[in-house]
Amino acid sequence: MSKSAQRRLVLGLTGGIAAYKAAELTRLLIGQNATVQVVMTDAATRFISAATMQALSGGPVYTDLWDGRVDNGMAHIELSRGADLIAVAPASADFLAKLAHGLCDDLLSTLCLARDCPLLVAPAMNRQMWEHPATQRNVAQLRADGIAVLGPDSGSQACGESGMGRMLEPESLADEILAWFEPKVFAGYRVLVTAGPTFERIDAVRGITNPSSGKMGFAVARAAKEAGAEVTLVSGPTTLAAPTGITIKRVTSAQEMLGAVEAAVGTCDIFISVAAVADYTPLNPQEQKMKKDARILSLELAPTPDILANVASRANPPFCVGFAAESERLDEYAEAKRKRKHLPLLAANIAQQSIGADESELILFDDQGRHPLPRAPKLEQARKLIAHIARLYPASH
Ligand code: C5P
Repeated sequence: MSKSAQRRLVLGLTGGIAAYKAAELTRLLIGQNATVQVVMTDAATRFISAATMQALSGGPVYTDLWDGRVDNGMAHIELSRGADLIAVAPASADFLAKLAHGLCDDLLSTLCLARDCPLLVAPAMNRQMWEHPATQRNVAQLRADGIAVLGPDSGSQACGESGMGRMLEPESLADEILAWFEPKVFAGYRVLVTAGPTFERIDAVRGITNPSSGKMGFAVARAAKEAGAEVTLVSGPTTLAAPTGITIKRVTSAQEMLGAVEAAVGTCDIFISVAAVADYTPLNPQEQKMKKDARILSLELAPTPDILANVASRANPPFCVGFAAESERLDEYAEAKRKRKHLPLLAANIAQQSIGADESELILFDDQGRHPLPRAPKLEQARKLIAHIARLYPASH
């Protein structure tokens, strides 16, 4: 997660077992340079104490409409003034119903009605409560009213059942809340991203691959989604979880990656090729595990298809962005690669400092020259890359 500019958030908690996750959410948001003003309903205080939330948010917690601590004595108005956003997590079925109907009989619901900033809700409830037509009606109404509904997720529930209704995990919620502030420069655009290494099979148990973690490609996919794009991510083998709201296609070999890219590229506006595609693949992969002996083993390798070059040389190509990981002579090799593959933009880095790491130092090369991005977390770099593409894209189309 990248450091955001300081944001002033009001975090509302309503009554649900997922309230315990709001503690971690608060820590994550504060760790990202946000200030968090906590407001709890009475029911929420049955699940997690105001003292816990006060300690974690570093400020007073409000629960009462008649609280006299606020300067002008009007907590329901004052607490959201100056706030950039109100997020309610967890949002119970009852609270969604109140919001949908404009009811305001406690501090949090009144605050939501009297706000002049965006409102995000993260539903958390038993699956039957979530699926109930009344809840679905209320959620549709909230969306129509411009309220963002984050999740819920499906999975095991505190009641022992399994299904839709779990609150999103604090990590995802913090990401979604902070992503709300990113400019939507790619709303209405389709972006295709490749990520991770590929794995080229030698035999049943062995293969050729590289240490790419997929972190940069996943970060680019997320930054594109935050910018409002519809994103498809084609990923080689990684341990990373699928980012929310992104279509992901998992592949193994370069050939499979090419197939998945070809299936999606026809409708995309921007193609960002972050994957560290293996350059060679064994010519005759063996079905069974090869037995070792004392002799030297030679493998015959054939070059893999260059997916990016393929896409860039199409009749009507999308805006193509390449990546280059070099171990030396970065500028020279990167520019040569950009020219050879006919790319308007290429992001280059020193492989030893970047592959598998959480941070990277990038240099962007385009027709105007080189644009260094000093070392920073990969999501932050990805957001800068997306902003750079947004500046170049209009001139190219
Ligand atoms: O030529 P090189 O492999 O260094 O080029 C790197 C760029 O080309 C990256 O954007 C990478 O995703 C892409 N590439 C590809 N297919 C290959 C090899 C590289 O799409 N077979």
